[in-house]
Amino acid sequence: MPRLAVFASGNGSNAQRIAEYFSGHPSVSVCLVLSNKPDAFVLERAVKLGIPTMVFNRDSFYETGQVLETLRSYRIDYLVLAGFLWLIPQKIISAFPGKILNIHPALLPGFGGKGMYGMKVHQAVIDSGEHESGITIHYVDENYDEGRIIFQAKCPVSEDDTAESLAEKVHELEYRWFAEVIEGVVGRDG
Ligand code: GRF
Repeated sequence: MPRLAVFASGNGSNAQRIAEYFSGHPSVSVCLVLSNKPDAFVLERAVKLGIPTMVFNRDSFYETGQVLETLRSYRIDYLVLAGFLWLIPQKIISAFPGKILNIHPALLPGFGGKGMYGMKVHQAVIDSGEHESGITIHYVDENYDEGRIIFQAKCPVSEDDTAESLAEKVHELEYRWFAEVIEGVVGRDG
Protein backbone atom coordinates (compact mmCIF):
# COMPACT_ATOMS: atom_id res chain seq x y z
CA MET A 1 0.00 0.00 0.00
CA PRO A 2 2.00 3.06 -1.19
CA ARG A 3 2.01 5.91 1.30
CA LEU A 4 2.53 9.43 -0.07
CA ALA A 5 3.85 12.63 1.47
CA VAL A 6 3.05 15.88 -0.33
CA PHE A 7 5.41 18.87 -0.13
CA ALA A 8 4.04 22.33 -0.92
CA SER A 9 5.26 25.86 -0.23
CA GLY A 10 2.11 27.85 -0.81
CA ASN A 11 -1.53 27.66 -1.81
CA GLY A 12 -1.75 23.90 -2.18
CA SER A 13 -4.62 23.53 -4.61
CA ASN A 14 -2.78 20.65 -6.29
CA ALA A 15 -2.04 19.08 -2.93
CA GLN A 16 -5.75 19.23 -2.11
CA ARG A 17 -6.76 17.64 -5.43
CA ILE A 18 -4.29 14.85 -4.88
CA ALA A 19 -5.50 14.22 -1.32
CA GLU A 20 -9.13 14.19 -2.47
CA TYR A 21 -8.37 11.89 -5.38
CA PHE A 22 -6.77 9.32 -3.09
CA SER A 23 -9.15 9.67 -0.17
CA GLY A 24 -10.82 6.28 0.12
CA HIS A 25 -8.51 4.87 -2.56
CA PRO A 26 -8.06 1.11 -2.18
CA SER A 27 -4.28 1.09 -2.41
CA VAL A 28 -2.75 4.60 -2.20
CA SER A 29 -2.95 7.08 0.67
CA VAL A 30 -1.75 10.61 1.35
CA CYS A 31 -0.35 10.36 4.88
CA LEU A 32 1.51 13.62 5.44
CA VAL A 33 1.65 17.19 4.10
CA LEU A 34 4.89 19.10 4.60
CA SER A 35 5.68 22.76 4.10
CA ASN A 36 8.64 25.04 4.60
CA LYS A 37 6.25 27.97 5.18
CA PRO A 38 4.40 28.08 8.52
CA ASP A 39 1.66 30.28 7.02
CA ALA A 40 1.19 28.32 3.77
CA PHE A 41 -2.49 27.83 2.95
CA VAL A 42 -1.76 24.20 2.09
CA LEU A 43 -1.51 23.51 5.84
CA GLU A 44 -5.08 24.69 6.44
CA ARG A 45 -6.25 22.55 3.57
CA ALA A 46 -4.49 19.51 5.06
CA VAL A 47 -6.01 20.07 8.49
CA LYS A 48 -9.50 20.26 6.91
CA LEU A 49 -8.79 17.01 5.11
CA GLY A 50 -7.62 15.38 8.33
CA ILE A 51 -4.06 14.84 7.08
CA PRO A 52 -1.13 15.31 9.51
CA THR A 53 1.21 18.20 8.71
CA MET A 54 4.81 19.09 9.33
CA VAL A 55 6.39 22.53 9.05
CA PHE A 56 10.14 22.53 8.70
CA ASN A 57 12.99 24.97 8.31
CA ARG A 58 16.26 24.86 6.38
CA ASP A 59 18.05 23.28 9.28
CA SER A 60 15.72 20.32 9.69
CA PHE A 61 15.61 19.81 5.91
CA TYR A 62 19.28 20.17 4.98
CA GLU A 63 21.23 19.63 8.20
CA THR A 64 19.70 17.65 11.06
CA GLY A 65 17.83 15.01 9.06
CA GLN A 66 14.64 15.67 11.03
CA VAL A 67 12.48 15.78 7.89
CA LEU A 68 13.87 12.46 6.70
CA GLU A 69 13.27 10.98 10.15
CA THR A 70 9.65 12.13 10.07
CA LEU A 71 9.16 10.65 6.59
CA ARG A 72 10.51 7.38 7.93
CA SER A 73 8.33 7.46 11.01
CA TYR A 74 5.24 7.84 8.78
CA ARG A 75 6.55 4.97 6.62
CA ILE A 76 6.34 7.16 3.53
CA ASP A 77 7.07 5.48 0.18
CA TYR A 78 6.73 8.37 -2.28
CA LEU A 79 7.27 12.12 -2.14
CA VAL A 80 5.10 14.35 -4.29
CA LEU A 81 6.23 17.93 -4.83
CA ALA A 82 3.25 20.15 -5.63
CA GLY A 83 4.46 23.73 -5.76
CA PHE A 84 7.46 23.12 -3.51
CA LEU A 85 10.32 25.52 -4.08
CA TRP A 86 13.41 24.16 -2.30
CA LEU A 87 15.96 21.82 -3.82
CA ILE A 88 15.70 18.31 -2.35
CA PRO A 89 18.86 17.37 -0.41
CA GLN A 90 20.93 14.42 -1.62
CA LYS A 91 20.18 12.39 1.53
CA ILE A 92 16.45 12.46 0.83
CA ILE A 93 16.97 11.70 -2.87
CA SER A 94 19.08 8.67 -1.93
CA ALA A 95 16.48 7.52 0.61
CA PHE A 96 13.71 7.65 -2.05
CA PRO A 97 15.35 6.54 -5.29
CA GLY A 98 12.96 6.97 -8.23
CA LYS A 99 10.21 7.82 -5.74
CA ILE A 100 10.07 11.60 -5.83
CA LEU A 101 7.75 13.28 -8.33
CA ASN A 102 7.42 16.95 -9.18
CA ILE A 103 5.06 18.94 -11.34
CA HIS A 104 6.35 21.89 -13.34
CA PRO A 105 3.92 24.37 -14.91
CA ALA A 106 5.53 24.41 -18.37
CA LEU A 107 6.94 22.08 -20.98
CA LEU A 108 10.41 21.10 -19.77
CA PRO A 109 13.24 21.20 -20.70
CA GLY A 110 12.20 24.78 -21.55
CA PHE A 111 11.28 27.30 -18.88
CA GLY A 112 12.73 25.39 -15.93
CA GLY A 113 15.63 25.69 -13.51
CA LYS A 114 16.38 27.71 -10.41
CA GLY A 115 14.15 30.74 -9.99
CA MET A 116 11.62 29.54 -12.58
CA TYR A 117 8.45 29.17 -10.56
CA GLY A 118 4.95 30.59 -10.36
CA MET A 119 4.10 33.54 -12.58
CA LYS A 120 7.71 33.90 -13.70
CA VAL A 121 7.35 30.72 -15.71
CA HIS A 122 4.13 31.83 -17.41
CA GLN A 123 5.50 35.31 -18.12
CA ALA A 124 8.64 33.80 -19.68
CA VAL A 125 6.53 31.56 -21.91
CA ILE A 126 4.48 34.55 -23.07
CA ASP A 127 7.55 36.74 -23.61
CA SER A 128 9.17 34.04 -25.73
CA GLY A 129 6.20 34.01 -28.14
CA GLU A 130 5.59 30.25 -27.71
CA HIS A 131 2.28 29.00 -29.06
CA GLU A 132 2.05 26.15 -26.57
CA SER A 133 2.66 25.60 -22.89
CA GLY A 134 1.55 22.88 -20.50
CA ILE A 135 2.66 20.72 -17.61
CA THR A 136 5.54 18.37 -17.00
CA ILE A 137 5.46 15.66 -14.36
CA HIS A 138 8.94 14.30 -13.75
CA TYR A 139 11.17 12.42 -11.35
CA VAL A 140 13.30 14.60 -9.10
CA ASP A 141 17.07 14.50 -9.03
CA GLU A 142 19.63 16.80 -7.43
CA ASN A 143 19.12 19.60 -9.98
CA TYR A 144 16.08 21.80 -10.45
CA ASP A 145 13.66 20.45 -13.07
CA GLU A 146 16.06 17.99 -14.71
CA GLY A 147 14.87 14.53 -13.67
CA ARG A 148 13.39 12.06 -16.17
CA ILE A 149 10.09 13.18 -17.65
CA ILE A 150 7.11 10.94 -16.91
CA PHE A 151 4.28 12.84 -18.55
CA GLN A 152 3.49 16.08 -20.37
CA ALA A 153 0.21 17.67 -21.44
CA LYS A 154 -0.14 20.79 -23.58
CA CYS A 155 -2.40 23.81 -23.86
CA PRO A 156 -2.42 26.56 -26.48
CA VAL A 157 -1.03 30.02 -25.71
CA SER A 158 -3.13 32.62 -27.48
CA GLU A 159 -2.13 36.14 -28.47
CA ASP A 160 -4.25 37.70 -25.74
CA ASP A 161 -3.08 35.41 -22.94
CA THR A 162 -1.52 37.02 -19.87
CA ALA A 163 0.61 35.20 -17.30
CA GLU A 164 -2.56 34.96 -15.16
CA SER A 165 -4.79 33.51 -17.87
CA LEU A 166 -2.08 31.07 -18.90
CA ALA A 167 -1.64 30.03 -15.26
CA GLU A 168 -5.34 29.17 -15.16
CA LYS A 169 -5.08 26.96 -18.24
CA VAL A 170 -2.04 25.24 -16.80
CA HIS A 171 -3.73 24.71 -13.44
CA GLU A 172 -6.62 22.99 -15.22
CA LEU A 173 -4.15 20.57 -16.77
CA GLU A 174 -2.52 20.00 -13.38
CA TYR A 175 -5.84 19.20 -11.75
CA ARG A 176 -6.79 16.92 -14.63
CA TRP A 177 -3.59 14.89 -14.71
CA PHE A 178 -1.35 15.03 -11.65
CA ALA A 179 -3.16 12.59 -9.35
CA GLU A 180 -3.84 10.18 -12.20
CA VAL A 181 -0.19 10.13 -13.24
CA ILE A 182 0.89 9.61 -9.62
CA GLU A 183 -1.54 6.71 -9.43
CA GLY A 184 0.02 5.20 -12.55
CA VAL A 185 3.51 5.46 -11.12
CA VAL A 186 2.86 4.30 -7.57
CA GLY A 187 0.21 1.79 -8.62
CA ARG A 188 2.97 -0.35 -10.12
CA ASP A 189 4.19 -0.79 -6.56
CA GLY A 190 0.86 -1.34 -4.93
C1 GRF B 1 1.59 24.83 -9.67
O1 GRF B 1 1.40 25.56 -10.84
C2 GRF B 1 2.75 23.90 -9.81
O2 GRF B 1 2.95 23.43 -11.10
C3 GRF B 1 3.90 24.76 -9.43
O3 GRF B 1 3.42 25.57 -8.40
C4 GRF B 1 2.01 25.74 -8.55
C5 GRF B 1 1.39 25.37 -7.24
O4 GRF B 1 0.04 25.72 -7.20
N1 GRF B 1 5.08 24.01 -9.22
P1 GRF B 1 -0.85 25.23 -5.99
O5 GRF B 1 -0.10 25.64 -4.71
O6 GRF B 1 -0.99 23.75 -6.07
O7 GRF B 1 -2.15 25.95 -6.10
